[in-house]
Amino acid sequence: MVELSLMWGARLSAPSAEATQYVSSISFDDRIALDVVRVNMAHLLMLVKQGIVSKEEGRAIYGALKKLTKGLELKRALEDVHMCIEEEIVKEVGVEVGGRLHTGKSRNDQVATALRMRAKRFVAELASELLKMREVLLSLSERHVNTIMPGYTHLQHAQPVTLAHYLLAYHDKFERDFHRLLDVYRRIDESPMGSAALAGSSFNLDREYVAKLLGFSRVQENTVDAVSDRDFMVETAFAATMIMTHLSELAEELVLWSTWEFGFAELPDAYSSTSSIMPQKKNPVVAEVVRARASHVIGMLLSALAILKRLPLSYNLDLQEVTPPVWLSVEETLRALKVMRGAVEGLQFDVKRMYEAAELGYSTATELANELVRRFNLPFRVAYRIVGKLVKEAVDKGLAPHEITPQMLEEVARQEGVTIEVDEQFVRDCLKPEVCVARCKVVGGPSPESVVRMISDRKLKLSRDFEALSSMKEAVEGVDALIEEEAKRLGVA
Ligand code: ARG
Repeated sequence: MVELSLMWGARLSAPSAEATQYVSSISFDDRIALDVVRVNMAHLLMLVKQGIVSKEEGRAIYGALKKLTKGLELKRALEDVHMCIEEEIVKEVGVEVGGRLHTGKSRNDQVATALRMRAKRFVAELASELLKMREVLLSLSERHVNTIMPGYTHLQHAQPVTLAHYLLAYHDKFERDFHRLLDVYRRIDESPMGSAALAGSSFNLDREYVAKLLGFSRVQENTVDAVSDRDFMVETAFAATMIMTHLSELAEELVLWSTWEFGFAELPDAYSSTSSIMPQKKNPVVAEVVRARASHVIGMLLSALAILKRLPLSYNLDLQEVTPPVWLSVEETLRALKVMRGAVEGLQFDVKRMYEAAELGYSTATELANELVRRFNLPFRVAYRIVGKLVKEAVDKGLAPHEITPQMLEEVARQEGVTIEVDEQFVRDCLKPEVCVARCKVVGGPSPESVVRMISDRKLKLSRDFEALSSMKEAVEGVDALIEEEAKRLGVA
């Protein structure tokens, strides 16, 4: 038997337990339960301030709402948290008083507002985890400004870079993710309350006042838009998905780097696992699972978008179904950020192996061509052909780069119609990865000076971003105090 809500037995008799449970959002409402209570409090204070509900009635309802902040049972027999709260209030203070709380509001504006409050906190949590990840990447970078490694394109050796340069690339991706969150936050930061079902209300509601009490910067103006908009949810999910995609890329590197074939890095035991039969195994399980969970998160983003794409305005219960995939994607991303930070922090790099890979894989060939251009004023394409032929000859003969002789270079140049004279030193220098790296002084390049400058710039930006995070946190954490203070001022608390 479904417990009888005050909403039933008027226009409709009670729906079946099966139908109620089927359409219920109770299993996900725990994420917003407290926010819905806060929304009710702010709305109530506004009703009292506007003279729509008396101070005495306000006091009784506020006391009952306050009780719910200490514990609210989400009853599976009810459709959602909104019904649970109203039922509790009426049970506590009677329908004559408690029945006034829903004046000028609807579950539609209430849920949109509570979702925005929760989304703002989720965004702040993601932002905070991103800053910690950036800190780890910056401190690792500081230690590896001179650690040479091959850079790749198409997963083929391309040109030498440094580990610091490489890690900073990930840092910068996470930095963009952080700023994307700040940007999303600005758009979430609008209050739908006062939109009621869709058309606002003929009661003299003060929307600005409620917005302020709930920590919003402004009102979301158009009432039809306010109850039907879930872009903010999709944007939150997208911001999470982009982070997750970056984490998955990094996870992929960790899987590759910890293979015998690469041998660039070893993951800490604490973030690895072994085999039940092969005693030698050290498996990069955390990185693998992050990589797979990124796929789930992408699926959840698509699911949210697919629900929205053919909804007429304004509120449809389909909107309720956008919520679970969005929260799940954020929660998954938070877990992944934490566990990947631990894994990255504990990486042990084999710097010798990385250097050898950069040297033996001909990643220095471009620099040899560059130097031929500078030394002999050759067109780049001619120098490119000379070096290409030289590498082919060396590979065919099974020679390592350091076994290439000046005579070999002169001979392939002659085949391309160019007469040059080079000495041993010229060839050796150009083929040394550290020389190539040191010469790449271009802005943002791998040279130690360029990387040291990037690190100090990033550190400065990181400290500014910590400040941005704390003002974001202040706004989301101050709501309870604001409400309580106002309740006292109105004589309701
Ligand atoms: N449980 C709903 C949600 O999460 C609340 C709004 C329900 N509104 C309605 N008209 N049935 O979206």
